[in-house]
Amino acid sequence: MPTPPRSSFFARKNVETLVQEAEGESQGLKRTLGLLDLTSLGIGATVGAGIFVLTGQVAALRTGPAIVLALVLAAVTSGLAALCFAELAALLPISGSAYTYAYATLGEFPAWTIAWLMILEYGLSASTVASGWSGYVSNLLKDMGITLPRSLSTAPWAYDSLQGRLTPTGALVDLPAFLIVLFLTLVLALGIRESATLNTLMVLLKIGVIVLFVAIGISHIDTLHWSPFLPPNTGTPGNFGLSGLLSGSAVIFFAYIGFDAVSTAAQESRRPQRDLPLGILLSLLISTLLYALFALVLTGIVPYGELNVAAPVGIAIDRMGLPWLSWIIKLGIIAALSSVILVTMLGQIRIFFSMGKDGLLPPLFSRVHSRRRTPLANTVLTGLFVACSGALLPLGILGELASIGTLFVFVLVCAGVMILRKTEPNATRSFRTPWVPTVPILGILGALYLIFSLPRGTWWRLLIWILIGTGLYLFRPLLSRSKTR
Ligand code: ALA
Repeated sequence: MPTPPRSSFFARKNVETLVQEAEGESQGLKRTLGLLDLTSLGIGATVGAGIFVLTGQVAALRTGPAIVLALVLAAVTSGLAALCFAELAALLPISGSAYTYAYATLGEFPAWTIAWLMILEYGLSASTVASGWSGYVSNLLKDMGITLPRSLSTAPWAYDSLQGRLTPTGALVDLPAFLIVLFLTLVLALGIRESATLNTLMVLLKIGVIVLFVAIGISHIDTLHWSPFLPPNTGTPGNFGLSGLLSGSAVIFFAYIGFDAVSTAAQESRRPQRDLPLGILLSLLISTLLYALFALVLTGIVPYGELNVAAPVGIAIDRMGLPWLSWIIKLGIIAALSSVILVTMLGQIRIFFSMGKDGLLPPLFSRVHSRRRTPLANTVLTGLFVACSGALLPLGILGELASIGTLFVFVLVCAGVMILRKTEPNATRSFRTPWVPTVPILGILGALYLIFSLPRGTWWRLLIWILIGTGLYLFRPLLSRSKTR
């Protein structure tokens, strides 16, 4: 087996080298983003299918109205990780994000593994949300009297999350999911300014829609629907009761994936040291507030047992008897999901970009188009990967894999803060995680607890994923001869 030289396995790059390499690029990415853009990117990547699709399913199958508690549990873990991300993003403002932090703390092979896990966090999240997007668009078209053929608007596999099984649907391909990814790939290829502006517009729309839903929905709440708050377990593990709450918080954790995408825009930020930590923390805070309000109103309007559908908000709107609201909210949700796809793809592309620079991917991935100042070939390849997985794989299985991948990344980022405080104590830190090591240790424990609460099948799939990644790392010298280091 073509093993890389032992020394390169754990070869580290120190903070200074990494920062100098990134700053020394004359024809690199374009530094144009301010705090508002970055916070919008964070909210853009975060608020999407998790809250608009999964909330209903988790409430119906696992938590009942206690979905709000599950959301808070997941938010606490995310908050601890966000504090650690904030320190590392300011210390190493490089678009590789956690991949680069791993390069600085643990070395090449762990960094590769983290990057491999980040494909689950970014690439698969984008595919998952594309699949949710398709559900909402089909629904909206149906309201307009247009019914898409099921065989062309559904993935060929469905996933039963309680049983952990895949079943064939009889459909061929989810074409709307494929097409939206291609369209957003085009926007990303056009430029970072264009992408950020479109994202900010979509973010304003989605925040507006959630606020509108909450403001109008409050008067339609029937508090009897909140009782029992956490229904007793039915005998099946994870089906309500404490096990339902814990596994529910692990599944709904998906809703928080994305705030760290801010750190992948590091090399496009005008003032990374100040704006990256602020952007990360603000986007998580705003998303959490929106989620809690949304979930309370949703479960207050509709009995939780009726929420296991692709578009749970639609049911709430029917209950309120306000058909005009339905249109606005559905359009807002479609915009929301589009922004998640856009920004998670952006994050994936920027991570591949950094790997290309480090020689872990072919140089093609880091080649920047001279006029557009975007990594063009990388954008097209990533877009095709996301489009194909979104068109073929079902939402549930993708969502759980994305969550477990992200949680592992969180573990590493929390550990990274502690390691770098020891190995690089004098590096300039414009943001310092408070109460180190307590916060990172609690962040690691929180992430591990969520990992262990995810369905067992997800662990196996993750293990297979890691083995494939390790195999690729070992065989990489055969695949790419042009290692530029
Ligand atoms: N957090 C993102 C969403 O919920 C991935 O859609």
